[in-house]
Amino acid sequence: MRNLVDKLELNRTLTKQEFITLIDNRNEELSEYLFEKSRKIAHKYFGNRIYTRGLIEFTNHCKNNCYYCGIRAENNKVERYRLTKEDILECCETGYELGFRTFVLQGGEDLYYSDDTITDIIREIKSRFADCALTLSIGERSYEAYSMFFNAGVDRYLLRHETATESHYRKLHPDKMSLTNRKQCLRNLKEIGYQVGTGFMVGSPFQTTENIAEDLKFIEELSPNMIGIGPFIPHCDTPFRNESKGTLELTTFLIAILRLMIPNALIPSTTALGTIDACGREKGILAGANVVMPNLSPVSVRKKYALYDSKICTGEEAAECRFCLQNRMKRIGYELVIDRGDFKAIE
Ligand code: 5AD
Ligand code: FES
Repeated sequence: MRNLVDKLELNRTLTKQEFITLIDNRNEELSEYLFEKSRKIAHKYFGNRIYTRGLIEFTNHCKNNCYYCGIRAENNKVERYRLTKEDILECCETGYELGFRTFVLQGGEDLYYSDDTITDIIREIKSRFADCALTLSIGERSYEAYSMFFNAGVDRYLLRHETATESHYRKLHPDKMSLTNRKQCLRNLKEIGYQVGTGFMVGSPFQTTENIAEDLKFIEELSPNMIGIGPFIPHCDTPFRNESKGTLELTTFLIAILRLMIPNALIPSTTALGTIDACGREKGILAGANVVMPNLSPVSVRKKYALYDSKICTGEEAAECRFCLQNRMKRIGYELVIDRGDFKAIE
């Protein structure tokens, strides 16, 4: 199997069948071999510098009904909330003082925030925090809306494809939702000029190795600037409440593969990874991730933005999370930096 890792490192790709073989034959020794390479590549591009993004979960209303997601429309046990523009700006203010230079506005698909409302919020953030990057993660909107947000100053957009396989997509989402449309949104975002992020859940219900290989091939084709993956974790008030969660082991293995595929990609070590393992985020970094995304949402709403059970950091203030992560990174030889952390093309 080491020859496949070497081949991946050299060519930055494998065939779908080779990806399947590599993933299905992994073991601890192979993972270590892979991680040494992925860490070295991350080090070549980013040194020991870890970028941070301040995540602002501004609404947990959602019109969709993804079977895996805790804030799905049909979950009537969620206490719904929306942050005002002023609330959001206050989060940014706190974040700025803590050294964040990227803010990520994330929410469910909530049409209460019209394209104009979102644009207004964007303009305000960009005028008050001119040296910061702004990332949106609000799901599928029209080409026109994406253009408007971009022209108002948004730098980046996160939209995980969730799974690149149509038949698998159908098992995770109701008929109303469409993988074709989601992929089209990603292409639109790229065309408009955003730094684009996509990704998928690891170990989501019904996921096969072939599905994962298709995710990797889709990512190769899209060539995103950011790639977010994290383990699926069941939420007790969703149809997938009894499904088993994804593993740290497979998630880190895939982070390392992605690092070899796109050496300069911005890859977060996600909160979901930190939720399934007390040192999950550290292990993600040691597998080749280079970004962390601590929460900047007001503590009063944090528990309400539960996409999955047992989410970490829901009781901590922004400053606590920042310093906790700073220490965690320091212990494994990395430092959090005050930087926008933009994607840089390979020279
Ligand atoms: N477990 C893990 N990740 C989840 N997401 C949504 N629900 C879950 C879950 N139960 C992920 C999706 C989404 C991102 C914001 O969170 O991939 O794109
Ligand atoms: Fe909100 Fe899926 S339930 S996007």
